[in-house]
Amino acid sequence: MNSVRRVSLTQYLVEQQRAHGRIPGELRLLIEVVARACKHIAIAVNKGALGDVLGSAATENVQGEVQKKLDVIANEVLVEANQWGGHLAAMASEEMDSIHLVPDRYPQGEYLLLFDPLDGSSNIDVNVSIGTIFSVLRKVGHARGVTEEDFLQPGRQQAGAGYCVYGPQSTLVLTLGNGVALFTLDRETGSWVLTQDGARIPEDTREFAINMSNLRHWAPPVRRYIDECLAGREGARGKDFNMRWVASMVADVHRILTRGGVFLYPWDRREPDKPGKLRLMYEANPMAFIVEQAGGRATDGRRRILDIVPTRLHERVAVVLGSSNEVRRVTEYHQQAG
Ligand code: AHG
Ligand code: MN
Ligand code: MN
Repeated sequence: MNSVRRVSLTQYLVEQQRAHGRIPGELRLLIEVVARACKHIAIAVNKGALGDVLGSAATENVQGEVQKKLDVIANEVLVEANQWGGHLAAMASEEMDSIHLVPDRYPQGEYLLLFDPLDGSSNIDVNVSIGTIFSVLRKVGHARGVTEEDFLQPGRQQAGAGYCVYGPQSTLVLTLGNGVALFTLDRETGSWVLTQDGARIPEDTREFAINMSNLRHWAPPVRRYIDECLAGREGARGKDFNMRWVASMVADVHRILTRGGVFLYPWDRREPDKPGKLRLMYEANPMAFIVEQAGGRATDGRRRILDIVPTRLHERVAVVLGSSNEVRRVTEYHQQAG
């Protein structure tokens, strides 16, 4: 992008507000604060061993996962950045057991922020792309105070969603319900610069992403879909497929946003009582919103992710998202299986 015509995140938000009149000042502030926090996380990620950010923190989160130092650091950065601005009522995070209220000493806003502070934790120590995922809801109703109940809204009610991928470049991907914009972090000026607006996911693809090591645990519709991809040109699909699995959802979704593809983290027999591995409210919902805004689809194999009404903050869900024709096919296979 020509340096003379560089558009910063701030300018983008101001222009969106002018053009569509639908981005309240508080939401704009919220996005800018989250983006600034992501910049701080990007700096910590980049320091690696020099910043003593690698390795485990010797604590567990509410899901029973051992926390990495960066899980804890990223969570603290996001909480501290967001609690004093007056734009939020409360926050929720993969790394916090329950909701975090804005302390009494600060004014309260009407937004609710949810995040996966560090996505792809298993990739931190091996220097592979990781990220931050966030979702913004508005507190509905006028009851005083905030409870977990206020968060339990279907994803279609999100006021905004985004992720930041910390890879060879740090990229912030944002939707406010009006398409998807990409910003690249300019490390010299410290600003997020608009590098793509109106991102679109191709409808068709020859690339799938799934953790193949779980193949023996899958349900028949998922097995059928992947078997057909693997059969390639000689099989039912009549074309060869390629496979990618970064094991950081942000990185896999970012590839799909860039060149198409389908991502699956289905239910499997390892933990039959859990619908899936990924979390609905701060992983699946924000990604589903972004993917739909870019012309793709996102389901749990049967239902549109954004229509699911959550019953718990840390609820899990099966995820199929990406190029619309492939997601439709996987969803049809589930429906045919009954
Ligand atoms: P997190 O690091 O926030 O716990 O999320 C990890 C998730 C997701 O990013 C990725 O797609 C998936 O776990 C990888 O799972 P496998 O370990 O089964 O590959
Ligand atoms: Mn995650
Ligand atoms: Mn995480």
